[in-house]
Amino acid sequence: MKIQHLRLLNFRNYEKMEISFSDSYNIIYGNNGSGKTNLVESIYVLALTKSFRGSVDKVLIMNNKDVCRVEGTIAEKYTNDYKIIIKDGGKKVKINNTKVDKLSDYISKVSVVLFNPDDLRFIKDSPSVRRKAINLEISQINNSYLKNLNNYNKLLKQRNTYLKSMNINANTSSDYLDILTNKLIDLGEKIYLSRKKYIDLLNDKIGEFYKKICDISDLKLEYISDFNNFDKQKLLKKYKDSLNRDIILGKTTLGIHHDDIKFKFLDFNIKDYGSEGQQKNAIIAYKMAELEIFYQIRKDYPILILDDLFSELDRFKINNILSLINENIQTFITTTEIDKINSDILQKSKLFEINDGVVRED
Ligand SMILES: Nc1ncnc2c1ncn2[C@@H]1O[C@H](COP(=O)(O)OP(=O)(O)OP(=O)(O)O)[C@@H](O)[C@H]1O
Ligand SMILES: [Mg+2]
Repeated sequence: MKIQHLRLLNFRNYEKMEISFSDSYNIIYGNNGSGKTNLVESIYVLALTKSFRGSVDKVLIMNNKDVCRVEGTIAEKYTNDYKIIIKDGGKKVKINNTKVDKLSDYISKVSVVLFNPDDLRFIKDSPSVRRKAINLEISQINNSYLKNLNNYNKLLKQRNTYLKSMNINANTSSDYLDILTNKLIDLGEKIYLSRKKYIDLLNDKIGEFYKKICDISDLKLEYISDFNNFDKQKLLKKYKDSLNRDIILGKTTLGIHHDDIKFKFLDFNIKDYGSEGQQKNAIIAYKMAELEIFYQIRKDYPILILDDLFSELDRFKINNILSLINENIQTFITTTEIDKINSDILQKSKLFEINDGVVRED
């Protein structure tokens, strides 16, 4: 998957901009605050309709403007035009100028894999951050995943509301709760199986990439879930056993909404024992594995964005990592230090210099 052209209107510090990209490396360089992240963010927003920099959509609109627009021509088997228009009151998406009513019908079409400095928290952050990431990743390769997850979350809300009503009124019957629990386990199983399959696939690849980056293998992911070794009867009993606790807390304490992934190095949890550098490299190996799984399933690579990957890394590591990227992957690299990139890679790349929201192509 490649983005050929990009057009921006009032996106962050880009008032009006139109550029064409290379199918392989695109290096975006410029000073701090010039608009490098904004540029790759616009590609991410075009694909996923939301930024990776959290917060609300309206921050994407240039100050003092009412609307912003990102348009891109994306080549896969066919070439399609994607468009997202963001106003303070909401957003609209279009494919080939036809409005797509449901964002979920739009989102899995253009795929991106992103690395940005915030990812360094990925291993250390709370489990919800890792769940959110794998949800996004699996939904890009499995169409029914997002639907199952949304249904699960709706059911979970209903169950939690019902638990609260049972807490207020001790005479509330548990029949309805049993129905909800049953459904929650069935949907949870589907999500569990998708996650397990995905983590198994990651495990087939991640050690190999880690070894190429650091010369040490044995990096593994461990999937932590209440649903491990799934057995419905045993789970039903566990839910029954935790009913009193659930009623007091007014929430469901068991289920795939508590799942987590541990990064393990031999038998050590990298979160507790790994150095900063080992953690960063583990995340890079994870992203590389993610790209390969995507390719296995979709027979095409996603667009890869490496935002500010290089700060703190030495020249050797930077070029080592870049050399691991398959040349068939369209890659966007932002950096303030273009001189750290080896000349053989620069020669294969299209260079964009950014100055205060203005792009100059070299
Ligand atoms: N909605 C907006 N309207 C106008 N300007 C904005 C908006 N949002 C952000 N900016 C400006 O964009 C600039 C930051 O751009 P960006 O984050 O892309 O920088 P960068 O080149 O990635 O810098 P660094 O090297 O520090 O990561 C800031 O100057 C900021 O004021
Ligand atoms: Mg930046």
